[in-house]
Amino acid sequence: MERELTLELVRVTEAAALACARWMGRGDKQKADQLAVDAMRAAFDTVQIDGIVVIGEGEMDEAPMLYIGERVGAGGDPVDVAVDPLEGTNLVAKGLPGAIAVVAVAPRGCLLHAPDMYMEKIAVGPQAAGCIDITASVTANLRWVARAKNKDVSDLTVVILDRERHRKIIQECREAGARIKLISDGDVAPAVAACIEDTGVDMLLGIGGAPEGVLAAAALKCLGGDMQARLRPETEEELARMQAMGIKDPDQVLLLDDLCKGDDVIFAATGITDGDLLRGVRYFGQGRMARTHSVVMRSRTGTVRFIEATHRLERKPHFARVE
Ligand code: FBP
Repeated sequence: MERELTLELVRVTEAAALACARWMGRGDKQKADQLAVDAMRAAFDTVQIDGIVVIGEGEMDEAPMLYIGERVGAGGDPVDVAVDPLEGTNLVAKGLPGAIAVVAVAPRGCLLHAPDMYMEKIAVGPQAAGCIDITASVTANLRWVARAKNKDVSDLTVVILDRERHRKIIQECREAGARIKLISDGDVAPAVAACIEDTGVDMLLGIGGAPEGVLAAAALKCLGGDMQARLRPETEEELARMQAMGIKDPDQVLLLDDLCKGDDVIFAATGITDGDLLRGVRYFGQGRMARTHSVVMRSRTGTVRFIEATHRLERKPHFARVE
């Protein structure tokens, strides 16, 4: 893939973030999502790729744009595209931290075409790469990660989605002495944050969306982190979909390379609301300007860029001018 693509992809996530951040706290997650999807889809038209959406807004019959199988881009290298124009719809609707717009691109065939079902995940940063085992206990994993990071378990911060299904792992983490950050939504950003030193996040644990798992894996590939996962189908139909993908056994462990193959993936994300990883969109200049905070990375070079951008908005100010 061309090097220039990295910066092109930031424009795509910036467009999505800028489009939906205005909807923060308005309690309408569908509207916020729609705005992000429309803006991201339009931004792809200028990107020099021959992309096929493999992780998107849903199947063709359920999503008008960025649906699975949709071709995006203005032509170029044949690539797989994974998107989540608004990762954390509830977060934006409620004005809570941690919502991001996110994209990953890799050569065709490199991203797992994960169906929309649950996935059990464990993700850590580079220092703890090779020191996790999803089939082992939470306590064992905490000890291995702490040892690899030259810390005590009590120094670790584990991010877990605040869900009833996580009651056991939350209890186990607490008994082992680890600190926990319970989040209400959005498990891509904390997986990425676990790879970045000053975010204060050491590990992501628990069951979240499978598509989000693939997006996180793309970032972890770039950052030298590690991840293991297992699909968690809940219905016969999901089980059949999983098996149709060639995963016969629900307990089959998916390693980082199974989620994101090869060594040429690009990951970009822009903050929508403030989070550990990225600041959210800030408006200023009487609503005519906005500042975005993004991260973009490429596995081939290992370069990670944090980009702060100022945008002049086309939108007219919503107050009446006093003559
Ligand atoms: P949306 O952006 O689609 O609302 O999903 C956000 C999210 O919190 C993901 O980050 C996470 O993987 C998944 O939903 C968790 O699903 P559930 O809310 O069903 O536990």
